[in-house]
Amino acid sequence: MPLVTTKEMFEKAYNGGYAIGAFNVNNMEIVQGITEAAKDLNAPLILQVSKGARAYANHTYLIKLVEAAVIETGLPIALHLDHGDSFETCKSCIDGGFTSVMIDASSKPFEENIALTRKVVEYAHDHGVVVEAELGTLAGVEDEVNVSAENSSYTRPEDVQEFVQRTGCDSLAIAIGTSHGAYKFKPGTKPQLRFDILEEVSRRLPGFPIVLHGSSSVPQEFVKIINENGGNMPGAIGVPEDQLRQAASMAVCKINIDSDLRLAMTATIRKYFNDHPDHFDPRQYLKPARAAIKDMVAHKIVDVLGCDGKA
Ligand code: G3H
Ligand code: 13P
Ligand code: ZN
Repeated sequence: MPLVTTKEMFEKAYNGGYAIGAFNVNNMEIVQGITEAAKDLNAPLILQVSKGARAYANHTYLIKLVEAAVIETGLPIALHLDHGDSFETCKSCIDGGFTSVMIDASSKPFEENIALTRKVVEYAHDHGVVVEAELGTLAGVEDEVNVSAENSSYTRPEDVQEFVQRTGCDSLAIAIGTSHGAYKFKPGTKPQLRFDILEEVSRRLPGFPIVLHGSSSVPQEFVKIINENGGNMPGAIGVPEDQLRQAASMAVCKINIDSDLRLAMTATIRKYFNDHPDHFDPRQYLKPARAAIKDMVAHKIVDVLGCDGKA
């Protein structure tokens, strides 16, 4: 099976009350860990590549790694550009074999967001590629996101119909309280996603796939391992997994996870070096790191996304 778009997987996810995991990939071990878990669990998959990942690993290497994963797993896999910041970046990925792109113009004024998104949609659809857009602004990693955060960060449900209609985008990322990175909520506060906004958005866009960025849960066991093995990540807090599960049962069809993979990999390698100070063969520490990514993704597929057996 060749790479697929997200069209069919989102339709099934929307109707089935589950979500597809969109995991960021940067190297071979990350691709292997994610796809081995998905294969074992027969789960559909989105592998996503950021601008930074393309700069780090090179477009061609990443494409070939993902193509290898398709051959090895036989799963429906979509290759997605994460946070495309310009028409040129999106075009380069569309021309270069991606099946899905995100144009993230969410920091621009409404009309500029619409104009740029529309331009990407026209080019993408002419080439059989689907487009994710974003409305609302996710907090940065250092910002406090809790119930008292500025309402202006959240997506305004009254804007979504006009935005989707005028842009023709295929899915929409919204801001309901998630944020990127490992420091999502102020220590001592109770993380709570704005399900009222999600409900109102989906009421206005029936059947339309919604995307959640910034959806790592920051498992405390990995933060602890990092801190016990020379790291320093006090106050790292993520989105509670039961809230993500709830979102997956609603209109959310794609859940983005990157930081949790980074934590699993880094915690495993830090501990490995502490336990084996004389080892220096990269295969020795990358092997357990890859296994930790596989375990993390398997857990997400079964306990958070609910997409096991849906490939
Ligand atoms: O949302 C951003 C993703 O975690 C990718 O991060 O730009 O550092 O590759 P990156
Ligand atoms: P996390 O930082 O919560 O993993 O979010 C990743 C993401 O949204 C990628 O686009
Ligand atoms: Zn994101």
